[in-house]
Amino acid sequence: MEEELRRLRAEAEEEVRAANTPDELETVRIHFLGRKQGRLKAIMSSLGQLPAELRPEIGQLAQRIVREVQELLVGRWTAIAQGQGPRVIAHRVHLRDQIGVSDTLTATVLPGPPIDVTLPGRAPRLGSRHPVLSTLDDMVAIFLGLGYRVAEGPEVEDYYYGFQALNYPESHPAIDEQMTFYLAGCDLLLRSQTSTVQIRTMEAEPPPVAYVVPGRCFRRDRVDATHYHTFYQLEGFKVAEGITFADLKGTLVAFARALFGDWMQVRLRPDFFPFTEPSAEFALTCTICMGKGCKTCSQTGWMEVGGCGVIDENVLRNVGYDPEQVSGFAFGFGIDRFAMLRHQVDDIRLLWSGDMRFLRQF
Ligand code: DAH
Repeated sequence: MEEELRRLRAEAEEEVRAANTPDELETVRIHFLGRKQGRLKAIMSSLGQLPAELRPEIGQLAQRIVREVQELLVGRWTAIAQGQGPRVIAHRVHLRDQIGVSDTLTATVLPGPPIDVTLPGRAPRLGSRHPVLSTLDDMVAIFLGLGYRVAEGPEVEDYYYGFQALNYPESHPAIDEQMTFYLAGCDLLLRSQTSTVQIRTMEAEPPPVAYVVPGRCFRRDRVDATHYHTFYQLEGFKVAEGITFADLKGTLVAFARALFGDWMQVRLRPDFFPFTEPSAEFALTCTICMGKGCKTCSQTGWMEVGGCGVIDENVLRNVGYDPEQVSGFAFGFGIDRFAMLRHQVDDIRLLWSGDMRFLRQF
């Protein structure tokens, strides 16, 4: 066995000298020191079969030869490294780990190019919540604080929930295919407003109720700086005994100031919606021009952010409520518009462009 060890050492020396690249050197290392097939490793693990009196001597010799081969590898490796760049440094670390040469040894025998392999790696870049969704979260949180609960409903609706139960006359333009996306081959449609969920929620629960409903809506609308075919709404409604338009107004002002600050102005102007009577359009100070007038607010100083009103008696009847007993108000906000106001985004299309330069700002 002693002889075999010496022969292996001689062979190793020869092969190490013949290696000209880190890869070739690696092959030599595996051949002699590899954990599975390495010839020296194989001998080391068969030492246990030797007669006990021979073991210490042969064991020491084997260990010495392993160390010598390691040093030969490192020495040859240094010579190769002097003619090569960073690739070799990576290999050096590998070699060091594999053969267990101490740091000080590699540090002193292997002066390499100045690359600090102990530097921490590059951290993956973390994403962040989309500005529309973070605005939505904050809006919902305010209503939770006012005692509302959260409900959700389907994005695909039928004609009854989409329009009929909401008191739309059959001739209403919103029902037209110009305005609403219909699914081919059936009477289903993509909801154009979250108001549909008023019906579903009230059908399922007797009054008093107070809910907000976040969700995505779709319209075959023109696309411009303040309109997009897909957008988020936050619907809200409250039904109980003795609810009036004044409750609606107080709620909207409290909400707008909680979100933006006490300086925020709220404007309500008469409007029409089939499911409310009376109805109003709801606008806030344009934060892009601070009320002075700019292209985003069409020079008005106000940004329309939704509609609202006192729930029409027909709607209450449709869900099985008694309008003699209870009354309620409802509102629907365009969340994208709120996100624009909040972050002074002057074009709604930026929100959905997927442009990382835009999104990274949030
Ligand atoms: N659904 C209306 C829209 O999308 C907004 C709206 C108006 C919602 C009045 C309401 C409401 O709940 O009462 O334009």
